[in-house]
Amino acid sequence: MPKTALITGITGQDGSYLSELLLSKGYTVHGIVRRSSSFNTSRINHIYEDPHDAGRRLILHYADLTDSTGLRRVIEASLPDEIYNLGAQSHVRVSFENPEYTADADAMGAIRLLDCMRDHVQHTGRQVRFYQAGSSEMFGAARPPQNEKTSFYPRSPYAVSKVAAHWFGVNYREAYGLFIANGILFNHESPRRGETFVTRKITRAAGRIRAGLQRKLYLGNLDSRRDWGFAGDYVQAMWSMLQHSDPGDFVVATGEAHTVREFLEESFSYAGLDWKKYVEIDPAYFRPTEVDYLLGDAQRARTVLGWNPPTTFRQLVHMMVDSDLRLAESERLVQDQKFAPTLALV
Ligand code: NAP
Ligand code: GDD
Repeated sequence: MPKTALITGITGQDGSYLSELLLSKGYTVHGIVRRSSSFNTSRINHIYEDPHDAGRRLILHYADLTDSTGLRRVIEASLPDEIYNLGAQSHVRVSFENPEYTADADAMGAIRLLDCMRDHVQHTGRQVRFYQAGSSEMFGAARPPQNEKTSFYPRSPYAVSKVAAHWFGVNYREAYGLFIANGILFNHESPRRGETFVTRKITRAAGRIRAGLQRKLYLGNLDSRRDWGFAGDYVQAMWSMLQHSDPGDFVVATGEAHTVREFLEESFSYAGLDWKKYVEIDPAYFRPTEVDYLLGDAQRARTVLGWNPPTTFRQLVHMMVDSDLRLAESERLVQDQKFAPTLALV
């Protein structure tokens, strides 16, 4: 039987790749979208289906993780076999500015959704599986390499909220026998990555500097180390966790860490640029408490789920730079066209 999935955070980086994956497997996909004064669906426009089309398999609902009434309604309307809770205020630096909202969406949002699922399962007798998008940020200051046995030591309101969501998942699994899997994903990137995360900020700048649209790139701490993988590979692991016979917690990582400086060097040199000529340090991008070194040990995901990420660090960087070189070139063309009539008047 074709399955039905419900995704929170469908408009985000991971939500878009996961939707593509599930649609390719024959799922009907429901997603929740936040009300916004401007369009926020650019990452899923290519798979969007008109609500008037019969037989469509991608269905969007307005809802928000801070509002349990809407979440409850969407679960009752979509009757999901699998729920993927990817929605979050996901920016670590921003969580220091908006700690209360971050905790509300990321920690309370998870318990709201879990509790709606618990009631739904109880009154319908249906089987529903739940994926919680946990993060390597939960390890924070814990010594690398980190795996499922490593103690959490969160270093930001975002990370503390994700730890709470993780333990809500464990508790609901044990208390009510629900199928809840916690993914503990290390950083994963792509050409669809939000432009304020460091990788995309760097590759966007490389493209724009090459196209003559930007002169400087302001960054914070270049010494922190991250285990960066490709988001397209990581959504496979999320899906695999919900296909396994037993629910569990899994670290998902490449097992290779690089500094921000190394990401910068690889991106700029691939774009034919010397980063030292363009980069300046702005303390505004430092964090009150930093996470210095994340390096994942994903042996459990490899052996239990058979998950192995095919994309290497260099392939990831080159994929992002290639995409941002093309994007900047098209921006430049638009800008040239905009100025052309003005110049013609002079
Ligand atoms: P992202 O691109 O920032 O997407 C976040 C999604 O959550 C967006 O669709 C956003 O909607 C939605 N959202 C934010 N606040 C919400 C709210 N109050 N109610 C409903 N939806 C809300 O993040 P991502 O990189 O795809 O990450 C997906 C999930 O994995 C997040 O939970 C993140 O914390 C977690 N995670 C990410 C990584 C990583 O390296 N990418 C690693 C570990 C864990 P809008 O589009 O309207 O903003
Ligand atoms: N964003 C940003 N902007 N980070 C910078 C900058 C800058 O200008 N300059 C240096 N950095 C450093 C940060 O201090 C951090 O050490 C590192 O680059 C990575 O920052 P981000 O790309 O913002 O990612 P993150 O590691 O804090 O969080 C991401 O990964 C987590 C998984 O470990 C997010 O996707 C989280 O949602 C996710 O849980």
